[in-house]
Amino acid sequence: MSYISANRDDDVFEDPNRFDILRDNADKHLAFGIGAHFCLGASLARLQLRCVLGELYRQLPENSLAEAPMPMYSVWFNALKAMPVRTCPVAH
Ligand code: HEM
Repeated sequence: MSYISANRDDDVFEDPNRFDILRDNADKHLAFGIGAHFCLGASLARLQLRCVLGELYRQLPENSLAEAPMPMYSVWFNALKAMPVRTCPVAH
């Protein structure tokens, strides 16, 4: 099973290499696996990401890429080793 291949299946996703979390069928991704071994922590991971990203954006709404992200490739899944961001805190 190769999740990176499944998540770029052009029978499922139009223009599959374009990062677009708003595409109509974005929920068809298999980042949390599928079937009997579907990730047991998927709900917790989604909640954590929603909290962390929401709070980061609330505290640091002004941000932009400082350098090109450093990808990490593997046969199983891809990830980012680093994504330096330039930001500026907002006074509350
Ligand atoms: C963004 C975060 C996460 C991603 C992308 C992710 C991804 C995955 C994937 C792809 C699998 C299936 C592996 C396979 O096909 O054999 C998996 C399984 C699993 N994940 Fe996650 N996971 C995440 C977070 C978590 C968290 C937070 C927990 C626990 C607190 C967790 C617990 C597990 C467990 C126990 C399994 C094994 C399920 C089984 O084999 O029946 N994961 N995860």
